[in-house]
Amino acid sequence: MLLTGRVEAKKRLGPYHYLRVRLPQAIGPLEAGHFALLEAPAPEAILLRPFSLFDFEEDQSPWIAFLFQRAGKGTEALASVEVGRQLRVIVPLGTPFPLPHGGEEVLLLAGGVGIAPLFPLARRLSRGGLSVRLLWGAKSPDGLPYPLLRSLRRWGVEVAVATEDGGLGHRGLVTELLQDQLPSRGVLYLCGPEGMIREALSALPPKGVRSFVSLEERMACGVGACLGCVVKTRDGYRLLCSEGPVLPGEVLQWR
Ligand SMILES: Cc1cc2nc3c(=O)[nH]c(=O)nc-3n(C[C@H](O)[C@H](O)[C@H](O)COP(=O)(O)OP(=O)(O)OC[C@H]3O[C@@H](n4cnc5c(N)ncnc54)[C@H](O)[C@@H]3O)c2cc1C
Ligand code: FES
Repeated sequence: MLLTGRVEAKKRLGPYHYLRVRLPQAIGPLEAGHFALLEAPAPEAILLRPFSLFDFEEDQSPWIAFLFQRAGKGTEALASVEVGRQLRVIVPLGTPFPLPHGGEEVLLLAGGVGIAPLFPLARRLSRGGLSVRLLWGAKSPDGLPYPLLRSLRRWGVEVAVATEDGGLGHRGLVTELLQDQLPSRGVLYLCGPEGMIREALSALPPKGVRSFVSLEERMACGVGACLGCVVKTRDGYRLLCSEGPVLPGEVLQWR
């Protein structure tokens, strides 16, 4: 649904930017893994930019929030957008993360700003009474902002962190924590850099652990019309905007 929202709050969280957009109306059920196309108020950024829903509220005065890092012109503009500014937004888009089956253990793996779609998933699953473990890695401690770690721990999520500079948690890559943490029967949810995803999927046992990856690709229409976001999978080509952005790890060719 194309709406005009109003920027209601913004703040820095380490190297990331948090942006909350008030919506003029309720937009139906929102789930972790859904994304939005958001107007980036810069003349050079004509296309709306895709961002995962990092947080949302669906009551009578609904809002959605994003966690993003600067990548280019569009995210630069969004980082400096003023509170009160009206922005066009198309939401909800994509397919959310499938929920675990009964008895499956749950492990989440995030690299840097890849925490964005996993944050509401961790909350949803832990509030549903599941025991949730999250491995989160970044180059340095500022990429693991304390307010987010605190929220996760308050929900009862068991968090282990890794930093490449060794400033917090395990020194090295977050995937190095995987071997000790992988369940024998469970689900791994991932979002982060391609290298992290490749490494993690290749570490999975042949059976017993399902995996779901939130992927990124350049997008234009967001609704399956322009074919701009096609990804090649073992099952053929898939449109990441409408058939993703969450795909089962087993269909990714890199596994
Ligand atoms: C479904 C989905 C969810 C996303 N969620 C988040 C999120 O929660 N937080 C976040 O920080 N980013 C997220 N991204 C990536 C984000 O959309 C891009 O960083 C953003 O569109 C870049 O816009 P720009 O104008 O700043 O950069 P541009 O000037 O357009 O490009 C700058 C650089 O970013 C790369 N880039 C551009 N678009 C994308 C893209 N769609 N995916 C990956 N790289 C891109 C370009 O190749 C280039 O290297 C998501 C992408 C997708 C597809
Ligand atoms: S972005 Fe147009 S088809 Fe996916």
